[in-house]
Amino acid sequence: MELLRIEELKKTIKKKKILDGFSLTVNSGEIVGFLGPNGAGKTTTIKMIMGLFSITEGHISICGFDIVSDFEKAMENVGGIVENPDLYKRLTGRQNLEYFSAMYPNVDKSNIDSVVDLVKMSARIDDKVKTYSLGMCQRVGIAQALLHNPRLLVLDEPTNGLDPIGIKELRDLLKYLSKEAGVGVFISSHLLSEMELMCDRIYIIDNGIMIGEKSIHQENQVADDIYSYTFITSDAIRTIDYFKEFNANCSQENGGVNLVMKRSQIPAIVKSLVDQNIDIYAVNQKQRTLEQDFISMTTGSKTQIQ
Ligand SMILES: Nc1ncnc2c1ncn2[C@@H]1O[C@H](COP(=O)(O)OP(=O)(O)OP(=O)(O)O)[C@@H](O)[C@H]1O
Ligand SMILES: [Mg+2]
Repeated sequence: MELLRIEELKKTIKKKKILDGFSLTVNSGEIVGFLGPNGAGKTTTIKMIMGLFSITEGHISICGFDIVSDFEKAMENVGGIVENPDLYKRLTGRQNLEYFSAMYPNVDKSNIDSVVDLVKMSARIDDKVKTYSLGMCQRVGIAQALLHNPRLLVLDEPTNGLDPIGIKELRDLLKYLSKEAGVGVFISSHLLSEMELMCDRIYIIDNGIMIGEKSIHQENQVADDIYSYTFITSDAIRTIDYFKEFNANCSQENGGVNLVMKRSQIPAIVKSLVDQNIDIYAVNQKQRTLEQDFISMTTGSKTQIQ
């Protein structure tokens, strides 16, 4: 189900074009990245989705409700954090959630307990926020955004300032929310490697225009993609000879053999190497990074990345 639809969105502030007409969608159960360098227009877009900024031109709808003509219904279905979670440091996590829950008509104590549980903060929720780590603040911020049970969660650079463990915990939490609870997550970032690990799809903007869209293939969906592999075997020369029989694109490097091949063919190759008494110590798949895509796109023209 489509939770967020942005159509030809434009924003002009004091005659300056901030967003110049782009479109995107987010479906339930999906984590969609919104990537772009500083000043690209990510926060502006997210503020517009949350109803905090007016729309100059174009449309935004949430669960089919236009945020201008059906504002209240649209807002019932979205929760989010813009820039940083706004928590009262002298209050406990629970007191913060109680305070924010008063803004919604149908949120009670049981909602608070369930969101605290969801973000795995039960053990610390009655401690003061000033004793929390950044990762804990982020989790309470997400709990706050989920209080009214929205179907779409919008997060503006939530990994900022988190250490690698905090980032992994956030990633696991968002995956849980999207895959188990069916929430659609729209998350902005300028960190490409992180988005690759977290998202199902990524949109890339620069200077207020869309410059690319990319699906991130998860492990078992990539059978037919071509990757570069490095084979470390007991006999590099015979390995290369074997690859050459298939006119494979291969080369020897640092004691290993590089091979460019469809992923689906690798198991058969490994089997025949073993059959020929060549021992295999490692087969490493090199990832094509979004970093390269991103740099070539932001310096080039509008492209569709594959
Ligand atoms: N209230 C405002 N008045 C004027 N210009 C603004 C305003 N808000 C944002 N801008 C401009 O809009 C552009 C996009 O800003 P925005 O904050 O959306 O970028 P961003 O992608 O979130 O960047 P960052 O990664 O640094 O957070 C910038 O050039 C910024 O200076
Ligand atoms: Mg921003």
